[in-house]
Amino acid sequence: MYRKLLLASALSILAPAAFADTCSINLEGNDLMKYNLTNIDISRSCKEFTINFKHTGKMARNVMGHNVVIARTADINAVDKDGIAAGLNNNYVKPGDTRVIAHSPTVGGGETTSVKIPVARLTNGPYSFFCSFPAHSALMKGTITLKP
Ligand code: CO
Repeated sequence: MYRKLLLASALSILAPAAFADTCSINLEGNDLMKYNLTNIDISRSCKEFTINFKHTGKMARNVMGHNVVIARTADINAVDKDGIAAGLNNNYVKPGDTRVIAHSPTVGGGETTSVKIPVARLTNGPYSFFCSFPAHSALMKGTITLKP
């Protein structure tokens, strides 16, 4: 009886925070050129969805830099190619690329960044997230699943 009551009260305290957290997620990338997630669920009830990204490695930004780029899955290769040509000064994203829904800066080991996704723009999926640092997208990419 006491245990049940305690659980109920714990849930009522946690519920509002858990709800608020559904419009953001923590993503990590490492020196092995890997993200720790292969899919990110995004609820259409979120106006904006934030991916908080942490580079958990030690390597420098110009050697093992990571970013998070959001684009249609069908556009990844073309966005990546143009991004690589745009270079590190442009965070490996072609300036004004309308195929890019959102992207973070490029960070090195130990650094964090974030990207805010305007969810209303996700109308023509499927979408993916990937790292546009040269030669990273083959390993560093994942799907975005839109939820109600
Ligand atoms: Co990378």
